[in-house]
Amino acid sequence: MSEKLWGGRFVESTDKLMESFNASIDVDKRLYESDIKGSQAHLEMMEKQGIISSEDAEILVKGLDTVKTRIDNNEMPFTDALEDIHMHVEENLGDVCGAVAKKLHTGRSRNDQVALDVRIYLKAETLNLIQMLKDFQTALVTLADANRKTVMPGYTHMQRAQPVLFAHHMLAYYQMFKRDKARLEDSLDRLDVMPLGSAALAGTTFPIDREYTCQVLGFSRVSENSMDAVSDRDFIMEFISHASICMIHLSRLSEELILWSTSEFAFITISDAFTTGSSIMPQKKNPDACELVRGKTGRVVGNLMAILTTMKSLPMAYNKDMQEDKEPLFDTVDTLKICLDVYTRMFAHIDVHKDRMRTACMTGFLNATDFADYLVNKGVAFRTAHGIAGKAVSFALDQGKELGDLSLEEMHSFSELIETDIYDFISLDAVVARRNSYGGTGFDNVSAAVDAAKKEIGI
Ligand code: ARG
Repeated sequence: MSEKLWGGRFVESTDKLMESFNASIDVDKRLYESDIKGSQAHLEMMEKQGIISSEDAEILVKGLDTVKTRIDNNEMPFTDALEDIHMHVEENLGDVCGAVAKKLHTGRSRNDQVALDVRIYLKAETLNLIQMLKDFQTALVTLADANRKTVMPGYTHMQRAQPVLFAHHMLAYYQMFKRDKARLEDSLDRLDVMPLGSAALAGTTFPIDREYTCQVLGFSRVSENSMDAVSDRDFIMEFISHASICMIHLSRLSEELILWSTSEFAFITISDAFTTGSSIMPQKKNPDACELVRGKTGRVVGNLMAILTTMKSLPMAYNKDMQEDKEPLFDTVDTLKICLDVYTRMFAHIDVHKDRMRTACMTGFLNATDFADYLVNKGVAFRTAHGIAGKAVSFALDQGKELGDLSLEEMHSFSELIETDIYDFISLDAVVARRNSYGGTGFDNVSAAVDAAKKEIGI
């Protein structure tokens, strides 16, 4: 004989292996607060609607508080036999209140219950993540602020291209995380839908008031189709997509931090507090935090593949496959949170080697475009000027010189239009300063961008 909450029609008991295979409690126990909150709102609504008596409702709402305290204090044992968090709460409510607990599940199903719990959980975590992204943006702007004049080589194809300001580079990431934050903010609207009352899939025969439950739980609206509400996991797919994009941004930044920490670049030093040593090589100081963030991007993208593949081709309405949604979701939330937390703290401990960055700008012809631009200003067509500058680069390379080392005489062999003012024109600071087109890396522009970002983020 089965003693399961759903055991009525069963004659045989569940195989132990099946019991542990079927159980999700290890994963979904973290939903207990949402689950209890949802049940209390459901009780309040049923009382208002006269579906259960005020006495029963009061006993059960208080009983649920007791169950919550027990779980808070680790006093409630979890067992595979009770499958998931919903059954644990209900069963324990029975221990606390007696037979009246059997009334709690009137007019609802675990299908709308789990959809509700996950939405409550994810709404709160999305708000947390929005704040954490803001904190990380603050760290980026702070570093940019301290480096308004720090020039560094800008790269395309990982080849030195044109000089940029380190602040500009940091603000590029600021923009990426700003979009990541906006995506989460936008998703809040779709998350903010209350599914309870959809019951198993078809709605319920009881005179429930879904708008009331919605209000009690602080959702902005109720779901409109019961079958959709119990089988919709778009909001999880959407969240993990947004999280994946954010992790990919973090991984790009990680890659740069790792490169910049090498002896070859030596553009930055990450403090001891966020690096680790080697068990064999005494000299080593490894950027493990950055490598872990880069590596953890793989698990979040893996989580996205997991949820997409789980949902693919599922017929309506609820299917047990959907129980598999929580591990990737929770892992994504945890991973993104720890990565943002670590980076926000680590960024306060990054030394920027301004001289080293400046020196790196002195070689590699970062001013070749400006050499061409100089000729354009003298009336030469850009494509022609590009060809002349290319010849000058090739000549300088052979001589082991930079463009600014060429004599005026040597310059004249490429164009008679060149005068002594070319030396100032192609000097590093002039090259940066002139790039004041909106959104460019010019000093004035970047200073204004830092100010705007500070204002936007409220620092
Ligand atoms: N543990 C289940 C899940 O996470 C709850 C819903 C179960 N519903 C059911 N009809 N078996 O999906």
